[in-house]
Amino acid sequence: MSNNEKGANPAHFVIFGATGNLATIKLLPSLYNLEAAGRIPAGMRILALGRQEHTHEGWLEHLSKVLHDKFGDKVNRDVANTFAERFTYMAGDLRTPEFYPILKEAVSKPSSSGADTVVFYLSIGPGDFNTVINNLDEVGFSQPRGKHRIVVEKPFGTDLETAQQLNRSLHKHFDEQQIYRIDHYLGKETVQNLLVFRFANTMIEPLWNRNYINHVQITVAEDLGIGTRADYYDKSGAMRDMLQNHLMQLLTVVAMEPPSSLEADAVRDEKVKVLKSMRPIPKSSVNAHAFRAQYAAGTIKGQPVVGYQDEVGVEKNTVTETFVAAKFYIDNWRWRGVPFYLRTGKRLAKTQSHIAIRLRHPPQHLFQNTPLDQIEPNWITLELQPSDFMQMELQVKTPGLGMGTRQAKLNAPYRLGNEAPMESYEALILDVIQGDKTLFIRFDEVEWAWRVVDPIIKTWSQEREFIHTYPAGSWGADESSRLFDCEDQEWRNEI
Ligand SMILES: NC(=O)c1ccc[n+]([C@@H]2O[C@H](COP(=O)([O-])OP(=O)(O)OC[C@H]3O[C@@H](n4cnc5c(N)ncnc54)[C@H](OP(=O)(O)O)[C@@H]3O)[C@@H](O)[C@H]2O)c1
Repeated sequence: MSNNEKGANPAHFVIFGATGNLATIKLLPSLYNLEAAGRIPAGMRILALGRQEHTHEGWLEHLSKVLHDKFGDKVNRDVANTFAERFTYMAGDLRTPEFYPILKEAVSKPSSSGADTVVFYLSIGPGDFNTVINNLDEVGFSQPRGKHRIVVEKPFGTDLETAQQLNRSLHKHFDEQQIYRIDHYLGKETVQNLLVFRFANTMIEPLWNRNYINHVQITVAEDLGIGTRADYYDKSGAMRDMLQNHLMQLLTVVAMEPPSSLEADAVRDEKVKVLKSMRPIPKSSVNAHAFRAQYAAGTIKGQPVVGYQDEVGVEKNTVTETFVAAKFYIDNWRWRGVPFYLRTGKRLAKTQSHIAIRLRHPPQHLFQNTPLDQIEPNWITLELQPSDFMQMELQVKTPGLGMGTRQAKLNAPYRLGNEAPMESYEALILDVIQGDKTLFIRFDEVEWAWRVVDPIIKTWSQEREFIHTYPAGSWGADESSRLFDCEDQEWRNEI
C-alpha cells in the first residue's frame, strides 16, 4: 500500500495561511472538532504558518481565542489542551525561497507511529498557489512522487485558461491522487444526503427526469456584503466566486446519473458527464441566459448598509456583479428541455441555500371548473443552510364541504432531536487525513464548469457601461425573472 492510499495517516498537517480568515472561522475549529471526536491520528503534528510574528505562547493564546469565539463555553479544556499540544507556529514569508528549507526541517521527523506523509493546506490567496507549489518542489517535497498531499482552496483559476495553467503547474510536481481541490459545498451533509435521497429511495428515481420535472432552482443567498475582501471580490464577482464552483457542483449532484459505485472516480465520472452535456451558451444569447446585478444601499436585519460601490476598496464605477442568475439546459436523455435556474448573491434578504424542484402539473385537468382550477404544482425542496431538511409539497383537500385545497408538507428531517450538525470542513479535512478523495473535485470537473461559464464571463468583461442594481436586503433584482421560460415560473424565496 502506498503512503497516499486511503488509511495512510499523515505525520504533519501544514496550514499555509493559519492566521487568515478561512483558518480562523473554519479550519482550526473543524480540526478541534475532529480532535474532540477522537479522529485526529495520534502523533499528527499541526504546523501553522503565517506572516505575523507569534511566540509559541502567543500562538496558543490566539488559538484559544479562535476556539472561544467559535464555541464559547462549550470548549472542552482537556480536548483543547491535547489539541494545542499538536501545534508549532512558524512565521515567515512564503514568497521567499529561504522559508522552505526551514519548513522542510520542521516536518522532517516521522510521527510517533512512524508515518511521514505531509499534508499541505493552501489557505492563502490564489495568487500565491504557484509560488508555494514551486518552492515545495525546490526543497524536494514532490519526491518521492505520490507521497504527500496538497489541498487547494477555491478559486481554482479565474477562467478556463488560468485553471489549466494552475493544473499544469500542480501536475508538474504532484500526481492527481495527491491533489485535493476543495469545494466545501460537497462537504455539507445535506448534499451527501441528496445522493442518498435520490439513489436509496425507489419512489424518487422514477420522478427524477424531464417527464415529471418542470424546472430546477438552486439558490445560494447571503445577507453578508463583501466585508474586507474588496481586493479579491472586485476582481472576481459572484459568477467566479460562487456560481462556477458551489452552484455548479450542486447542479451536478442533482442531475447526475446513478454511479456504478460510490468510489471517488465513479461519482466524479457521472458529474463530469453532466457538465459535458450542458448546452453551450453562444455569445449572442448570453443575455437571455444570464443576468448580473450589484447591491445598492439598503437595510439588513434592520440596519442600514452601504451599496457595493461605496464599500471600502471597491473601484469606482465597477461593474463587478454581486448577484448572478443563470439558466442552463442539460442536453441528455434525462433532462433535455428542463431549465436549471441558478442564482446567488450578496446582501440578499437572508443567508439561505436551497434547491427547489418543481414538478409538472398532472396530465389531465380533472378539477377544471371547480375552485381548484388553478392547482398549485408539487415541489420537492431541500434546504442546505441555515437548517438542513427535505420536503415534498403536495396538495390535499381542505376538510369540510366544497372542493378546496391546501398545501401539505411531507417533511423528511435529516437530523433528529439533539443530533448535532457537522461543519462541512470537518468532513473534508478528515477525508484529507484519511486520503479519501470522493468529496474533492477532479480537474475535468473544474475545467468543464469553466467551459460552461466562460462565454458569460467573457461577454460581461466587454460590457462595462451598465449594471442593474438591487437594494441590499432584497432578493435581488426583479429583472432576473426575465430568464424564466414561462410566465408561471418564479423564484422560490421561502421554502
Ligand atoms: N475566507 C473564506 O470564507 C473562504 C472561503 C472559501 C475559500 N477561501 C479561500 O481560502 C484562501 C484563504 O482565504 P482567507 O479568506 O483566509 O484569506 P486571508 O484572510 O487574506 O488570509 C491569508 C493568509 O495568508 C497569509 N499570507 C498572505 N501572504 C503571505 C506571505 N507572503 N507569506 C506568508 N503568509 C502569507 C496571511 O498571513 P498573515 O495574516 O499573517 O499576514 C493569512 O494567514 C483563499 O484562496 C480564498 O479564496 C476563503
